[in-house]
Amino acid sequence: HEKLPMHVYLERMTLDEKIAQLIQLAVPFFEGASDAGLITGPMASLGISEQTVHNAGSVLGMAGAQETINVQRKHLENNRLGIPLLMMADIVHGFKTIFPVPLAIGCSWNLELAELSAEIAAKEASVSGVHVTYAPMVDLVRDPRWGRVMESTGEDPYLNSLFARAFVRGFQGSDLAGDQDRVAACVKHFAAYGAAEAGRDYNTVDISPRQLREFYLPAYKAALDEGCEMVMTAFNTVDGIPATGNEPLMRKLLRDEWGFDGILISDWGAVKELIAHGIAADESEAALKAIRAGVDIEMMTACYTHHLNELISNGEVSESLIDESVLRILQLKDKLGLFENPYRAADPVREQEIVFSDAHRASALELAHKSCVLLKNDGILPLKPSQRIAVIGPFARSGDLLGPWSWTGSQDAIIRLSEAIRGKLINPAVMTVADGCGIDTATEEQWSEAATAAQEADVIVLALGEDSDMSGEAGCRADIRLPQVQLELIRRVQELGKPIVAVLFNGRPLDLHGVFEESNAVLEAWFPGSEGGLAVADLLFGDANPSGRLTMSFPFSVGQVPVYYNAFNTGRPQGAADAQVRYVSQYLDIPNEPLLPFGFGLSYASFEYADAALSSDTMTPEQTLSVTVRVTNTGAVAGVETVQLYVRDVSGEVVRPVKELKGFRQIELQPGESREVAFELTEEQLRYYHSDLSHSSDAGAFVAFVGASSRDNASLPFRLVK
Ligand code: IFM
Repeated sequence: HEKLPMHVYLERMTLDEKIAQLIQLAVPFFEGASDAGLITGPMASLGISEQTVHNAGSVLGMAGAQETINVQRKHLENNRLGIPLLMMADIVHGFKTIFPVPLAIGCSWNLELAELSAEIAAKEASVSGVHVTYAPMVDLVRDPRWGRVMESTGEDPYLNSLFARAFVRGFQGSDLAGDQDRVAACVKHFAAYGAAEAGRDYNTVDISPRQLREFYLPAYKAALDEGCEMVMTAFNTVDGIPATGNEPLMRKLLRDEWGFDGILISDWGAVKELIAHGIAADESEAALKAIRAGVDIEMMTACYTHHLNELISNGEVSESLIDESVLRILQLKDKLGLFENPYRAADPVREQEIVFSDAHRASALELAHKSCVLLKNDGILPLKPSQRIAVIGPFARSGDLLGPWSWTGSQDAIIRLSEAIRGKLINPAVMTVADGCGIDTATEEQWSEAATAAQEADVIVLALGEDSDMSGEAGCRADIRLPQVQLELIRRVQELGKPIVAVLFNGRPLDLHGVFEESNAVLEAWFPGSEGGLAVADLLFGDANPSGRLTMSFPFSVGQVPVYYNAFNTGRPQGAADAQVRYVSQYLDIPNEPLLPFGFGLSYASFEYADAALSSDTMTPEQTLSVTVRVTNTGAVAGVETVQLYVRDVSGEVVRPVKELKGFRQIELQPGESREVAFELTEEQLRYYHSDLSHSSDAGAFVAFVGASSRDNASLPFRLVK
């Protein structure tokens, strides 16, 4: 087929062909595929014709150069006008080279490496035939019961926005049209999917328009400002209207106010789910509401296919709406060069050469080093190669280190933790390994193997956690402690009186009761990816120095959640000068504070902060304020410190959070080295959404905080004068 201008395709397409462009189907619908690809939602019969499949606009969940070439070739044989398929897939934290999960990447506070991880993922995915990734997921998260917190970079809108931009840059590069090693990005899930009530997936979201703008929207906006090509709707309601049928949110805010003119795709089944939500009586009304809201592509239901035709003929939907959507889809296909070369970068030979290459794995290792967070250390770490070590626990020899959304990765290719630790030892023969228990089951035999393994050891490394199905989509938990059998394993091992180092593999901040107090050191490894076993061993033995800092609070217990650092003070805060014993905002049985706050993380170095100062005690809109602090490495090894700047607006038109992150700097200091770190604070950074949704700052009192975490910092009062 000769390539035509996009509007000519549109003119030549029948209405049925146009409507078919708007459906997205999973792999099993297509001829030429050898397997079902990745199924990430309910599979039901859609009742669509063969003709609709031949004219469908896109496929989801397929990868592999030969596979995608086969399907595209077959598709083009069947498609009258020769319009190629867009191949979309969830390439979330790596393709074959799997990086740590996004929450872990967030904890690196390292935007360059985050961008590089997305660039590598794009390169591997593109050569394997993928054109669009459903990433980045930038939902702000506060409730660790929600399984999808592992896909976000955490609880801070400013940091999430920076990561959103970094990921988009990495996926798309600066010239998506010209650079075939990149893929188009699809930011998700618009909007506020992370605020699902009670941390239960797909549940109601009901937040004020101010909360939405202040906390939840910035990261999506940042992704779009970076040029992100697509947006995916959220499953949830936003102010009573499911996002997928939400005209105020999609058409007014996303399209009209923000000027987004790219493709808006529904999440899997979300158009038809408007019926279950209760804003559509049937498929026809669901189609009507979704197309009016601005949804271009319907993923894996067929409300558009079945009903747009009749909605157009009875005048409820204008054909121009369909034309707009089709044109957007054609334009992205064109931008990706699919009309010139429908296979784009898919190349089975090059795929073999570059996918999971040593260079890519080295980057995954580096990011894994930087993503793990040392939560506790009484001095037992780093371990010594001469020590006799027992590695015990369900993650001792597990390959489940890749985490959710790593369907293209392979556990076979990774080095397990016990093997990586063995490689560190002077006398590997004295190391012992035992499972101790499964993730949530145990046998007497496993207990006794663990006891034997522990007997001869100087130090016990307990490798514990959640399996990857316990987080991710539909992976919510009400009890976010380690499973009971693992807590029992800790109790039994503790009876031996030997030092315990707990290494945790999981996708959410956990309630650490039963682990934290019981262990001499705790390393949060998250799901660290393909090179995670090696990275953790490097960190345990001091061949790499932990530098990760939490981007989501670890609650004291689940009863606190949602608990996050940028909260409001209340009228009766604990610890106020006039606080009463009883009538304050507090729990009777647990502290208010999380166990471990946002920004927290330890190092084998130690950092001292001194001389925190402001350049002036007032600032104006024209005049920035410098915040400086001296940081010294008082430890014996080099280390990376993340110096954090927060601000509080003491008296706003509406209540302001007790602290808001405004900047951070990562510095590496040699032992004894000292450096002054400086931030410039501008009036723009003091702006916020007022009750009328205007965005501006208020003159008056502020406090700047500078330090090592959201909890540990020096406070510096100043005034904004206007
Ligand atoms: O991209 C995902 C989304 O995050 C959740 N539902 C399924 C989609 C496609 O796999």
